[in-house]
Amino acid sequence: MNKLITFFSIIIFISGCNDEPKKEKFSYKRVQENTEIRDVKSVNDVTINSTDQMLFDRSVIKVKSGEPVNLTLNHTGQIAKEFMGHNFVLLKEGTDVDDFAQRAMVAKDSDYIPVGDETYAYTKMLGGGESDSITFDSPEPGTYIYLCTFPGHYQVMRGEFIVE
Ligand code: CU
Repeated sequence: MNKLITFFSIIIFISGCNDEPKKEKFSYKRVQENTEIRDVKSVNDVTINSTDQMLFDRSVIKVKSGEPVNLTLNHTGQIAKEFMGHNFVLLKEGTDVDDFAQRAMVAKDSDYIPVGDETYAYTKMLGGGESDSITFDSPEPGTYIYLCTFPGHYQVMRGEFIVE
């Protein structure tokens, strides 16, 4: 009988010991998961550069849906805004890009943003050496067009904004 009791208390002791490390492992995993979530958020911190050569340095931007997007546009050139202005304009789904860009071209008074409700977000028009940062809610998952609306730029300065 005594042996049996000893046997069971050893089992209880062993399983009691096993519980401890399991709990520690679990809480360690939780911490790791939280770190991953923080990394995912940084995907929505977007930087895009534009140049005196009339180019964006990215043709595809990917972000996560359901989280705000922090976007910074840099004009890394030196030419003034009047001659080599750049902006970042994100168009809503279904917008006729050519029609929008042609109306934008003559909207000088409003920084080349035409009247209407066709944009999700846009930056200021920048000259060489300038930057602008904007924050906006990411649209529904899908593929959207972004462009620069300075006259004559959009056919080269455009890309895909993919929300996953
Ligand atoms: Cu431009």
